[in-house]
Amino acid sequence: MNIAILPGDGIGPEIMAEAAKVLDVLRRDGLKVETETALVGGAAYDMHGHPLPPATLKLAQEADAVLFGSVGGPKYDALPRELRPEKAILGLRKECDFFANLRPATVFPELADASSLKPEIVAGLDLMIIRELTGDIYFGEPRGVTGEKGHRVGINTMHYTEAQIVRILHAGFRTARQRSKRLCSIDKMNVLEAMQLWRDIANELAPEYPDVELTHMLVDNAAMQLVRNPKHFDVVVCGNMFGDILSDEASMLTGSIGMLPSASLDANGKGLYEPIHGSAPDIAGKGVANPLAQILSLAMMLKYTFNLPGPAARVENAVRKALASGLRTGDIARQGERVCSTAEMGEAVVRGL
Ligand code: IPM
Ligand code: MG
Repeated sequence: MNIAILPGDGIGPEIMAEAAKVLDVLRRDGLKVETETALVGGAAYDMHGHPLPPATLKLAQEADAVLFGSVGGPKYDALPRELRPEKAILGLRKECDFFANLRPATVFPELADASSLKPEIVAGLDLMIIRELTGDIYFGEPRGVTGEKGHRVGINTMHYTEAQIVRILHAGFRTARQRSKRLCSIDKMNVLEAMQLWRDIANELAPEYPDVELTHMLVDNAAMQLVRNPKHFDVVVCGNMFGDILSDEASMLTGSIGMLPSASLDANGKGLYEPIHGSAPDIAGKGVANPLAQILSLAMMLKYTFNLPGPAARVENAVRKALASGLRTGDIARQGERVCSTAEMGEAVVRGL
């Protein structure tokens, strides 16, 4: 197994160091993994003048899987769009065709009271958002700002081909089949033609999955239902933009965005695995970030790319044990609770293994 390690910016390198410790234990216990590390995002821009240098892209393309940290920081905010750190993750998704983004939102029993919602609303929550990653307004043309000052026009285009919609909906149906057999497809067909196409295609595919119950929901209603009654949902499938927004919302149901991993898969199961949080420049370099989303991203990699549910569960259980031992990083600590460091949490997971 060849894993490309791309720590990136901000807290990325700090949390990646803890995931590397976990990987070391698995390797010691017989897992055959080779890793190679490369710069990405702002760190790559500083060194090579581009957030996704050719060598980094090549490493990602040749690896079996990519473990990604996070990119971005205020230092890079003034750069032209093409050179911004975010361009690295968007470029990797597009170039490697990582179109199916799996974003689980699971409430660990140990953390049911960390959510800003009442514990009874979120306890036991286990939902999976499947977000399309290579189309939509993120990549649609035309785009840009035209015209003269006083009359400028900003343009972005929601653009989806039938092929793009079909493949992500299949991913949704298949995932639903493995879980509760309920799939909720999100769109905005009451206003947008592209989303009418999305809904039509969902209905056309449904007969191929007679065992899955397909429902539809408009995205504004979905945003509301997610905080009203999140356990109503099991598998949710949506386009790139709506998935970006709804997955951040769903993450807060679980108490902390610092807990949530994600997988971005191509058609062959190769994938990029990353925390759903960003580079958190405000706490970078202080050794206080929560490394669990990065470690759980590694667990997802074992499960989805390498088909090793046993070792994946072993890592997840070790995370549960670290939480059960009472350790809390700042993002999940309640008022008055002792706050542990990134390394303390990582080492607790290693002990749990
Ligand atoms: C995410 C992030 C990215 C996105 C940014 C960093 C480009 O918010 O992975 O959700 O918008 O997709
Ligand atoms: Mg986002």
